[in-house]
Amino acid sequence: MLRIDKLMLAAALSCAALAGGARADGTVEVLHWWTSGGEAKAVGELKQAFEAEGGKWIDSPIAGGGGDAAMTALRARVMAGNPPTAVQLKGPGIQEWAEQGALNDVQDVAEVGNWDSVLPPALAKIMKYEGKYVAAPVNIHRVDWIWASPEALKKAGVEAMPTTWEEFNAAADKLQDAGLIALAHGGQPWQDATLFETVVLGIGGADFYRKALVELDDAALRSDTMIASFDQLRKLRSYVDPNFSGRDWNLATGMVMRGEAGFQIMGDWAKGEFLAAGKVPGEDFLCASTPGNGFILNSDSFTFFKVSGEDNLKGQKVLARLIMSPEFQKVFNLAKGSIPARTDVPLDDFDICAKRSHEDLLAAIENDTLVPSMAHEMAVPRSVRGEFLDLVTQFFNSDMSSQDATTRLADAVQRAM
Ligand code: BGC
Repeated sequence: MLRIDKLMLAAALSCAALAGGARADGTVEVLHWWTSGGEAKAVGELKQAFEAEGGKWIDSPIAGGGGDAAMTALRARVMAGNPPTAVQLKGPGIQEWAEQGALNDVQDVAEVGNWDSVLPPALAKIMKYEGKYVAAPVNIHRVDWIWASPEALKKAGVEAMPTTWEEFNAAADKLQDAGLIALAHGGQPWQDATLFETVVLGIGGADFYRKALVELDDAALRSDTMIASFDQLRKLRSYVDPNFSGRDWNLATGMVMRGEAGFQIMGDWAKGEFLAAGKVPGEDFLCASTPGNGFILNSDSFTFFKVSGEDNLKGQKVLARLIMSPEFQKVFNLAKGSIPARTDVPLDDFDICAKRSHEDLLAAIENDTLVPSMAHEMAVPRSVRGEFLDLVTQFFNSDMSSQDATTRLADAVQRAM
């Protein structure tokens, strides 16, 4: 009898320990770089959804557009044996960390949620390692956008959004003649590379883009088309204001918002900034794809690092499930400026730019002109991307000729491969 009592007491105590120690819906420490107005609003939606389920959210934001600072912080955390539970990570970076054995999979969550049937196959492939999901995608961002101030365009007598680079240059000349800044830009390597890749797509087309920036084909990298792309990048350099160096991308968006500048070339996270400031697309600001045919894809996702403890493991699974829920994909993307990664979320409540993005995405898939972003870590390993960023930034900040830039870029990529 006494023995049974003792056993019952021990069982009761371990239940109490579980209830007190491990939270019902786990804990996550989330490392991300979403610190601008629109970005913070979007990540706030995820935090709120996680907390509404009883989970504990520890926020680890690392400021710095494009995520380079966040990736440096991540490496330091992993080296120290203390990885965060969930990390904003994408493209080949997911595979690189998975190959090192650093990631937990969330395959069981993916199977219950039927992720295979609701994600575009190209995106699902990026999220998997050895057939199992190790990441959950939150969105589809498009990189090749021009954002414009209708007020500035009007002042300069520019009647329509440019559809060729010649038209872009002519419009930019008019803006400058009217005493306005033609192109709002922040001189940071990832922003320079963002301009560069949109120009490569526009000048060379999707097949050329793929050869040069994804397959790293030496002949493409040394071609006249690449020289022509650098020529157009040089032209863009002449349209930025003298204070561009080091400026954050969202401050450049602010210049368009206030009508000080005519254009910004930036992914649709810029739209998140306009929306967070209460601006209406088509009225307060305009969107159009950069000249050329195609769609440069950038998708944000979260990976789940190898952490221990029931509480953390539970947190990872709850977060993965929430990220892929249709409700979350809707509210998050309404704030972020992107469109849902899931293909089954209705876009009725989304704005004209998002609808355009979706239509162009489908057309690009159909015409095989969908290409992954080099600047936003969707296309090549980090080491190769680093070479692109270094060279493009050097070009942007010097009087290097297009011919020299082309040769130096091809040599650098070859060394990095
Ligand atoms: C990310 C976006 C982010 C942007 C600026 C991109 O690489 O995909 O989510 O808003 O960088 O930080």
